[in-house]
Formats: sequence, C-alpha cells, structure tokens
Amino acid sequence: MPKHVAGKRGTARRRMSGPVASGAGTTKPKEKGPAVERESWWETAVIYQVYVRSFTDGDGDGIGDLAGVRSRLGYLRELGVDAIWFNPWYLSPMADGGYDIVDYHEIEPLFGSIEQAEQLIAEAHALGIRIVLDVVPNHGSDQEPWFGDALTSPSGSPERARYHFRPGRGANGELAPNDWESIFGGPAWTRTNGPEGQPGEWYLHLFAPEQPDYNWDNPEVRAHFDEVLRFWFDRGVDGFRIDSAALLVKEPRLVDLGASDWTRSPGGHPFVDRDGIHDVYRQWRRLADSYTGKRLLVGEVWLPEQPDRFARYLRPDELHAAFNFSLLGCAFEATALREVIETTLDSHVALGPWPTWVLSNHDVVRPVTRYGRCGTAFSMDDRRIGEASDLELGARRARAAALLTLSLPGAVYIYQGEELGLWEVEELPDELLEDPIWRRSGHTDRGRDGCRVPIPWTGQEAPFGFGPDGSTPWLPQPAQWKDFTVEAESADAGSMLELYRAALRLRRLEPAFRTRELRWLPARDGVLVYCRGTDLLVVANLSDQPIDLSRSGEVLLSSAPTQEAKLPVDCAAWLRLPAGRLRSDL
Ligand code: GLC
Repeated sequence: MPKHVAGKRGTARRRMSGPVASGAGTTKPKEKGPAVERESWWETAVIYQVYVRSFTDGDGDGIGDLAGVRSRLGYLRELGVDAIWFNPWYLSPMADGGYDIVDYHEIEPLFGSIEQAEQLIAEAHALGIRIVLDVVPNHGSDQEPWFGDALTSPSGSPERARYHFRPGRGANGELAPNDWESIFGGPAWTRTNGPEGQPGEWYLHLFAPEQPDYNWDNPEVRAHFDEVLRFWFDRGVDGFRIDSAALLVKEPRLVDLGASDWTRSPGGHPFVDRDGIHDVYRQWRRLADSYTGKRLLVGEVWLPEQPDRFARYLRPDELHAAFNFSLLGCAFEATALREVIETTLDSHVALGPWPTWVLSNHDVVRPVTRYGRCGTAFSMDDRRIGEASDLELGARRARAAALLTLSLPGAVYIYQGEELGLWEVEELPDELLEDPIWRRSGHTDRGRDGCRVPIPWTGQEAPFGFGPDGSTPWLPQPAQWKDFTVEAESADAGSMLELYRAALRLRRLEPAFRTRELRWLPARDGVLVYCRGTDLLVVANLSDQPIDLSRSGEVLLSSAPTQEAKLPVDCAAWLRLPAGRLRSDL
C-alpha cells in the first residue's frame, strides 16, 4: 500500500497440533528443467498471491476460506507456481481485509481453523509448493487484548507504551498531537474517552483507526513479533511477506511532518524509512536463519524514488528480498519499461539479492484495466477508478507484459486472477464496498475492492464455482466472466490462462531463465529486445508497426498469434536463437 511514499514523491493461545516439517519439495515436480545450482528457492521463484476471501468458498457463506484453497491446490500445482503467499488469514474483525489482526495464533473463523492451516501447509508441501504468510508489524487491531488494556490504563502506563498515545494539542487537548495524515485519508490520530466518557489521549494509526500503530521502541512489541514468527516457522511456513515494512519506527518526538526536514535528509522522515528499522530486520534475519530449510523474509518496501534507501533493506544481514513495484507503476511504453528493468537489475547486481517483479496485487487496479486506459502509468495516489478503459487493448498489453515479466531475472509474484486476465470491477454497488479507503476518503475514492472480486472457476453464471451453487459471493462477479473462468480458459488455447501455463512451463524448463544475465540488443524505437543466456531472445513490440521475426529464430511462445512471422503491435514473444547467433535484426 504505497500511498505514503508515492505521496512525496496478551493473547489467548489455543491448543495446536505439533509443528510440521518445513520446506516444500518432498515430492518432486513432475516436470523439471536441467539441474541448475540454486542458492535459495525464492531467487527465481514464481510466487502466487492468494487473497483467501476471494479465492474459493468451501462452505457456501460467500467468503473464500482455507477449505476452498485446499480444494484448488491441484490447480496451482498445474499452473506451475513454486510458492503461495497468503494475505493475512489470522483472527481479525476485518476492518481492513484482515490487515487488522487480533491474534496471530488463530485463523479467522470465516476462513477456517488452525488445524486446516496445518493441513493446507502439509498438502502444499507434498505438492512441492511453499507457503509464505503475511506479517503486519506496523499495527495491530483495536480489538486486540493489548489495545483494550491500553484504553483502560492511565496515561504513561506500560500498557499504553505498546502503542503511541499522546495528549492532544489546544487548550483542552482537542487537536490531534501532530499533523500526520492517515494513508487511508483523514487524520492519523483518534481521541480516546476516559472511563466516564470524558475525552482523553489520542492514539496514532497510520492506516484506519481500527489499526493502532505499535511502538517499536518497546521491547514487548519486539518480543511479541519474534514469537509470532517462531510460531509459524515452527508450523513449517517457508517465509513471511512483511507488510508496510518501512513504516514501523517513528521519530521519538512524533514531530509534525511539516516541521521536519525529511525532504533534505535521508531517513529524516518522521515515519517512513527511519534508520532504526534495520535493527528489527537484523533480528528477524537471525531468527529466520536459525531455522532449517531456507526461510524467506520479503519486505513490502515502497521507496520508488530512493533506490539507495531501498537497497539498505537488502543488506546481507537483513531481508532476503523486497518487492520492487516499479514495473507495476510503469507506463506501457518501451523507453520507460527499459529504464525500469535496467535500473532494477543494476541496483540489485550491486546488492547481491535477486530482484522481484510484480504486475499486480490486492491493492492496485488490475493490469487489463490499467493498460487499456489512455495513460497507462499507475499511481496509488490516483487510481482513476471509473476512467474509460479499452479492455481488449488492455488485455493484449497485459499478455505482453506477462511475457516480459516472466522472462526477467528474479522472482515473479502473480496475483490471483491475473493469470485469467480479469479486469478491475469498477461498477460495484456502493453499499457493498468494504475497503476502509471508501469510507475514510468521504466516498471520493472507491478503494481496492474492484481487484478483489471472487475468482470465477467454472460454469455459465455466478458464483462461477467460487462457492457452491446458490451461494452469493461477498462481491458480485460480472456476467462476462463466464468466458474467463478457469474452465472456459482451459478449453481455449489462446486464453490468458494457457499463456501463463505455457510461460511458467518454459520458465521452469529453460536454464537461461534461472540466470541473472540479461543482454539488451539494438532495436528500433518502441521495440524491446534482450537475450537471456546464450540462446533465448525476448522481443516486445510496443511500436506502431508489426515487426518481422522471420530472421530472429524459432518462436517458442508469443502473446498473440504471429502471422507470416510478424509480431503484432502491443505483443511480446520468446524465441530460440539459432546456435551462435547473438544479434537481433529488429
Ligand atoms: C499493506 C497492504 C494493504 C493494507 C495496508 C495496511 O499495504 O498491502 O492491503 O491495507 O498494508 O495494513
């Protein structure tokens, strides 16, 4: 959730069954490429993001759940993914889609139980699929016992010291303690009431009021999260995606943003990317590395304009990887894309860790819609929901973008439904919108629900196999999705799903895709051409003319049919170069 950066430019325990062994791969994938020495599984992995609420509903209440996910593991195995990243599945009042967590030791009952989670982990591992969970260290939930204790404890108490409580400004404390704004809109502070209802201190929440920020200067908070990581590592999970990873540490005096000199000094922002964060990740890295098997820590670090600061999270004793969102925001335009790819690769070569590539996730407008608009660049500050989009054009470009992304050195994250070419559902009824952004923005920003509409699997009408027949999904699916179900797309060799399946298969089989090498070859304006390894050529035609591939090698895969060896506009292809031929005639 990038807005903050793009803008600038006591817990009950349940009895659990015992820990399970870590690491996928007890069963070998059927189809394997030639053996290539690989340091760590995540370096070139394809990681599929499951937003549980919208994936598959096993019990018919309209909400996706773990039983549903378990029933689809075969689909993910066949798609060819290496790992699944789950958005938060823990106990939560769902004020922000589960990013307001009450207890990490329980599964949200809407989703299932801890036993089901353990079974799911074991079943995925048996299929060679690893499991990555979300952890949300910046904030908790206002329904958490710790927060309840804080509210009933006096100012200055140890209970309040786990959060950021402050007296208000103004004669009667009626003004917020500082000028920070919530990333979801409105002030970042909410005033509390004392036992007799009299107004009291304020508490900080960089997101919704239901998500109070933790105080990371408090050792109890640090110990709590160490325990949470251990709890799930002990249950065999292979890694964590760290939510809002650059926000945890705050300037101790909580100075006004307006009064700080953050634009001039790196690390000077009062709540983004403070230097003190790195101690937290050094500790987490020690913890992750103390487990057998390779456990991943991947950070949601949105610092698009500060590559040097981004790099600091990837130092050898910190995170193993960080999301690189530059591709996701980039216009569908050759020069801009090339610059993003080059900058990312160059910065990571110097660092060591492999890059990550992301075209979509649960926070952003789906690529088919983005790429069908007049301006194809994307920013979280301006999602432009409802702006006209040519979905046919968008889909053609999204197919090309998929082949570009899947051919780059590093890990690729795929958000559920991206592989089906689903678009943003922009006409959802107001009363069904759940994203807190809708409410907090005073109903001016429709938020992120449009990319979270339940997945269509089978059949001709809703719920399209998302849940049992007759059940009503929590958000309505467009009737046109009958042609975009997994079933329909599996029967169509030209579908987006078949393109993803083929691309993932080739990516797995071709050793060149598991190297870090990428060589640009000269090409005319609007055309991107690069070589992977010695014999794979990737061509993307973003010019206004078809290009002739007849002298460029054998086409292995293309995002649209090539007629008479012509690659149409807004399309991409992977080719095998004839032996010894490392040049392009494009
Ligand atoms: C991250 C999540 C987003 C969530 C926010 C607050 O950015 O991706 O969905 O709303 O954090 O936890």
